[in-house]
Amino acid sequence: MTASRTQIVAGNWKMNLDRTAARDLAAAVAARVGEAGTAELVLCPPAVYVDTVGAALAAVSSPIGLGAQTMHDKASGAFTGEVAPPMLVDLGCRYVILGHSERRTLFGETDAIVNAKTKSALSVGLTPIVCVGETLEEREANRTAEVVTTQVKGSLAGLSPAELEKVVIAYEPVWAIGTGKVATPQQAQEVHALIRGLLASIGSPEVASKVRIQYGGSVKPDNAVDLASQPDIDGALVGGASLKADDFLGIAKAFGA
Ligand code: 13P
Repeated sequence: MTASRTQIVAGNWKMNLDRTAARDLAAAVAARVGEAGTAELVLCPPAVYVDTVGAALAAVSSPIGLGAQTMHDKASGAFTGEVAPPMLVDLGCRYVILGHSERRTLFGETDAIVNAKTKSALSVGLTPIVCVGETLEEREANRTAEVVTTQVKGSLAGLSPAELEKVVIAYEPVWAIGTGKVATPQQAQEVHALIRGLLASIGSPEVASKVRIQYGGSVKPDNAVDLASQPDIDGALVGGASLKADDFLGIAKAFGA
């Protein structure tokens, strides 16, 4: 972490919980937000519970950000089952996760699609959390840098420096997601530094120094402290551990200390 960047810890609840559990978890995290110190917190519930979670946060005037896990790039239209960016804004969302590896591998999201969604999110004032990361096969073939470079450049193509500055990037090595295999702080730092270098070349060194880059993949309270100590790791995108208030806040504390 670098002191000039506000650390950002987001919970990606994925397709878990029910309405009552979502409301209760949001209320539990909100009640203990002080434990996160200086870190900014974001909760990303399933789309159907965004409203419920937003209401639970609003009820206690919580500073915690509300986010969605995906969205369509168009503002409205005949896209059965999809959720439009203005609808998320309408529900109080400030963030949206885009291009998560599960969206890329299971739902066919390409860099071009992620790029269209990123531009669309920015156009309505949502902060995109753009996910990138290599598979185990790609890492073992020494293709991590090439894969991450292609994803970053493709996902952020055509953004102005002012837009680029607002984006949050999440480096999530696919082999570390939900597997309990966390990247070592050195492995993560190496890729985060690569990403910051790419941002400097796409935008400028000044822009790159402002962009928050989260790490994601089996983050837990006990490995968060070492990850947080790395200079280019500015927060975490948390899956499984975000479903328990104790674990999520334990991670937040490591980044907000
Ligand atoms: P886990 O924390 O469960 O490994 O999930 C990481 C992730 O995919 C967050 O978006």
